Amino acid sequence: MGRHRTLEILDLKAGYDASEILHGINLHVDTEEIVSVIGPNGCGKSTVLRAIMGLTQWSAGQILFQGADIRGIDSSRIVAGGIGYVPQLENVFSGMTVTENLQIGGYLLPRAERKRQIERSYELFPVFKDRRAQAAGTMSGGERQTLALAMALMISPKLILLDEPSAGLSPKATHDMYGNIVGLPERLGMSVLIVEQDVHGVLEVSQRTYVLSMGANDFDAPSDQVMDDERIRLAYLGEGD
Ligand SMILES: Nc1ncnc2c1ncn2[C@@H]1O[C@H](COP(=O)(O)OP(=O)(O)OP(=O)(O)O)[C@@H](O)[C@H]1O
Ligand SMILES: [Mg+2]
Repeated sequence: MGRHRTLEILDLKAGYDASEILHGINLHVDTEEIVSVIGPNGCGKSTVLRAIMGLTQWSAGQILFQGADIRGIDSSRIVAGGIGYVPQLENVFSGMTVTENLQIGGYLLPRAERKRQIERSYELFPVFKDRRAQAAGTMSGGERQTLALAMALMISPKLILLDEPSAGLSPKATHDMYGNIVGLPERLGMSVLIVEQDVHGVLEVSQRTYVLSMGANDFDAPSDQVMDDERIRLAYLGEGD
């Protein structure tokens, strides 16, 4: 018996209006697994996450979450069903405080539970404890990315989708960000799917990696073997000749 599949994408073709961007994507995330998706700018990484959240059009394939096809379901119902999503850009409300952002992350929850989950956020991320009233827009890039993660965790999702959590961060802030992510499966009982353009950090915290190229699977491997692959060395490290 294999482990239980949290997410399974089968031959997904999807895009925007008339243009098909994903030409047949296959990937899966098992229970409490961290999986990464890497590939060059424009290859369709963000579109994969948007397709899961019901934010694209599609022409073929299946997206199974805990065994049920979620294609065509409204985004807010997908969130309520247990998928958290941190978009690549504009993922916090700059003019609002830490607490207000967390309230928005938990808007689907009953009031009392929302309060409990906000307190849990401060336990998970003590950096925010004394900064509840600070406007998100005045925080560092790393703190904002952490707040965006905390917002998505408010509903205790079974799967969380992270679009370039290291974007714009220094190596130190990237390291700290991945330090927050690596313990999530065991601590909160969830699976994690991370999209990244920069491979540093994500290969260390994920068990398996999918490499995309022009809207399709290129190859996949255990993350600790990906850096040894000739294709990755060429694409990311400029070590070819
Ligand atoms: N809303 C949209 N309407 C039309 N085309 C779009 C839309 N969003 C993205 N695209 C196109 O889809 C393709 C894939 O974009 P996507 O954002 O998924 O790439 P990506 O791999 O996430 O890139 P990056 O590493 O730069 O974030 C690109 O050619 C892009 O121009
Ligand atoms: Mg992207």
